[in-house]
Amino acid sequence: MVRLQRTQTFLNGLGRVAAKSGMRRVVADGNSARYQGSMHGGAWKEWVVLTKQGGIAGERDLLSLCRGGSFLFYKHNFKIHACMRERRKKMAKIPYKMYLTEQETPRQWYNLRADMKEQHAPLLNPGTLAPLSAEDLYPVFCEKLCQMEVDETTRYFDIPEGVQEYYKTFRPSPLVRAYNLEKALDTPAKIYFKFEGNNTSGSHKLNAAAAMAYYAKEQGLTSLTTETGAGQWGTALSMACAFFGLDLTVYMVKVSFEQKPFRKAVMETFGASIIPSPSTTTEVGKAILAKNPNTGGSLGCAISEAVERSMADENCRYVLGSVLNQVLLFQSIIGLESKIAMDKLEEYPDVVVGCAGGGSNLGGLMSAYMQDKLLGKSNTRFLAVEPASCPSFTRGKYAYDFCDTGRITPLAKMYTLGSDFMPSANHAGGLRYHGMSPILSKLYHDGYMEAIAAEQTKVFEAAVLFAKNEQLLPAPESAHAIYGAIQEALKCKESGESKTILFGLTGTGYFDMQAYMNFNEGKMSDHIPTDEELQKGFDTIPHTGR
Ligand SMILES: Cc1ncc(COP(=O)(O)O)c(C=O)c1O
Repeated sequence: MVRLQRTQTFLNGLGRVAAKSGMRRVVADGNSARYQGSMHGGAWKEWVVLTKQGGIAGERDLLSLCRGGSFLFYKHNFKIHACMRERRKKMAKIPYKMYLTEQETPRQWYNLRADMKEQHAPLLNPGTLAPLSAEDLYPVFCEKLCQMEVDETTRYFDIPEGVQEYYKTFRPSPLVRAYNLEKALDTPAKIYFKFEGNNTSGSHKLNAAAAMAYYAKEQGLTSLTTETGAGQWGTALSMACAFFGLDLTVYMVKVSFEQKPFRKAVMETFGASIIPSPSTTTEVGKAILAKNPNTGGSLGCAISEAVERSMADENCRYVLGSVLNQVLLFQSIIGLESKIAMDKLEEYPDVVVGCAGGGSNLGGLMSAYMQDKLLGKSNTRFLAVEPASCPSFTRGKYAYDFCDTGRITPLAKMYTLGSDFMPSANHAGGLRYHGMSPILSKLYHDGYMEAIAAEQTKVFEAAVLFAKNEQLLPAPESAHAIYGAIQEALKCKESGESKTILFGLTGTGYFDMQAYMNFNEGKMSDHIPTDEELQKGFDTIPHTGR
């Protein structure tokens, strides 16, 4: 590939070469363009197209000008110049924040599975290893949610009127152009983020909580149980249960319960009962405490307790705020809204970045763009950022495993560190989960996604840089996505590429001040599990032979 050493706009660059070589047709493909010219005996020549700044033109620049990948190019340079000028005018108009109107918001959720080339392996009964049907799941989850969980074919689900009305209390969420961060990084990249922290729970979790509480009420249930780690999910579900008129018991991971008394207070204000987990209110909790009396708990333990509690009452069901297909479905609203807003701005991400705990926000944000990729319409990259202390994607095994520590849930095929894996203390409580969404696991396994692991001190450096420039205090979980987006933007600085980066700012960090205090006082440390430590978790993965 020949790189043109020119500094004029890439169109000028093309124009000059076109004139010299008698070029007839240009085909753009990624960052390169090919042309056929008489000078080369009709052979195709390839080169990298440069922008005015001397960087490499992005795929979008080329594709938008080439209208579908190719254009005829004789001596119509002036037309292209006009096009370029118009585009620059449009770019100048991109607002700092973009809100859709209520009328423009999506009326349906998108089920990514309907477009996946291959489905992920089904949930299995841990006793018989038989695949589970929707009916098999009815004792645990409410019926509509079970049906959605196993649905591989329905591409779009109507958002019920009641949920749409509720969404209006906090949606649409803004799409923000991070101009200040771009400036601070001195990057040619265009950075956008979708801000989901604009509600009392302070996170994206309310998108799923609303739907789950709505369907539970519709089924005539009176109460729900759940677990919460950092507290955002528990808060979101407390809010939704208060609105739809359901009782709620939340098993809160003990370390978070102790570190975040204000989270507990908010949940109680919305009427929920909060129990630190592991507890003596369930058999599984008692067993975990007997084995390890000083444990600070984990999401896996809290899930076991909440499931056991829900099974004891026929008017009660369990709900999970991440990992499951139904949760990714509800979170697709994030990606659908982002796409409508970006389309209006004539923007399209080259890379989509999200933090990954159980995978719900990233699965939701990337959904509409992954659809394009699955249908061969785009080549966007998708990047999951996880904590180095709990590296499910980057160091985990792709295997059938329990979703909880007490081993009472179905088996899911996913990237896992083993259901007994206890991540070291880490301030991103919402990312301390041993497993990962089966949908994301499958996409990652099949090469549609990438993942990186970040150390928490680096993540907090990114959080503080972001806060100072964008004036929003991010949740530690969200700061992982910020870290990933910054890495991508810095790569653009290095290469001169003007890529479009979209990341999910899933929540705010006002309840995470102990973490920020530790960081500010230089007391934060990084724990990266050794291979031996990980092996202990892997040893607990059941042998299913699949
Ligand atoms: C603010 C925030 N972001 C991200 C996450 C991670 O969850 P998921 O991977 O399901 O999006 C959590 C989980 O609690 C969270 O509270």
